[in-house]
Amino acid sequence: MALSQSFYIENRKKLAEQLENNSLAILFSGREIAMTEDANYPFFANNNFYYLTGIREPEVVLVAIKDHHGDLSWQLFIEAADPLKEKWVGKKITCVEAKAVSGIDEVSYIKELPQAIGLKSSSQFLYFDFKSPQHQSFKTEDQELQKALKQCEIKDLHPILAAMRLIKTPEEICAITRANAITRQGIEEMKFLIKPGTYEYELAAFFEYFVKKKGSEGVAFETIVAAGKNATVLHYVSNRCPLKAGELVLLDLGARVEGYCGDISRTFAINGEMTTDQEKLYRIVDAVQQEMISAYRPGAVLKELQNLTKELFLEKCCRAGFAPENNDITEFYYHGIGHPLGLDTHDVRPAGDLILAPGMVMTVEPGLYLEKRGLGIRIEDDVVITDSGCEVL
Ligand code: GLY
Ligand code: MN
Ligand code: MN
Repeated sequence: MALSQSFYIENRKKLAEQLENNSLAILFSGREIAMTEDANYPFFANNNFYYLTGIREPEVVLVAIKDHHGDLSWQLFIEAADPLKEKWVGKKITCVEAKAVSGIDEVSYIKELPQAIGLKSSSQFLYFDFKSPQHQSFKTEDQELQKALKQCEIKDLHPILAAMRLIKTPEEICAITRANAITRQGIEEMKFLIKPGTYEYELAAFFEYFVKKKGSEGVAFETIVAAGKNATVLHYVSNRCPLKAGELVLLDLGARVEGYCGDISRTFAINGEMTTDQEKLYRIVDAVQQEMISAYRPGAVLKELQNLTKELFLEKCCRAGFAPENNDITEFYYHGIGHPLGLDTHDVRPAGDLILAPGMVMTVEPGLYLEKRGLGIRIEDDVVITDSGCEVL
């Protein structure tokens, strides 16, 4: 599944406007990584590459060439078909398909890349995505091309793309909304399994089955099902313990739709009823989440929202007798209130203070973690910033 071709065309247009004249930009979808002698890890294409092309196949290169007049052309380079390999792993993307998904007219085979770029090697600037992992970074064995590219001044594409990806289009918000709708439904449907004796992995497996059955691409990140004190480990993914009566279970999970992530957390009593203290703590987290949702609005600074969350937690936990007056609440609340959400669960963002603006999609996820009481409570929802506040997705 992919978003519409016009989405990728528009993204490339916005990027092109920000490139220097007389420049080259090169992005790579990524190469497969061997996991064992005869199997690779599941392939995941570079998200910046996907955002500009809609293509999620390995070994595809995207090149932008902007001449000294500011005229720009885009080219894709794909692998040629290998009939023998096709019998084992299926067909690769063709030139016609690559063009149809991306809207890029010039699609060639990768063996033509050195010459195609070499011809433009007089470019002054060369843009790469500095933050892409090594296996998603462009490399060439071609000596002539290496020599030519070495003469360029190297620039980073990442800050430009991070700023673009931070503000979502209605189409992206729609994909996140669908991911969340499936995630939410998955949580509703898995409630019947929340009882003493069920193993954490049974809940995780049910969720993963459910989201695929509903037509999503699968999970957006490793599903967290954390019973009892396991929930004090924020990204607990081993999911191997049994659920016990009297404890809570924290679920942090999300489906992925068209590349976009859902990210929801809920906390339930394993035998259906919380103890008085569990309920008091739960209500504190719930109240803080409601107050923070009202505080998410254009102009709010994420760092200040985090300080406000800590103040609210400290005040409420002291009042309820869970923390002494002068306690540093970071003993019980030790993560951020939220993060941008998009193609990455912790989505890209430009460096520096994050100031909320319309079109950003953010999580709101306060949590309390009391190891001595053997519990962690997190409630997480995702919001889109609007002109006057935010809307829960
Ligand atoms: N699911 C990871 C997070 O909420 O940050
Ligand atoms: Mn999150
Ligand atoms: Mn989460």
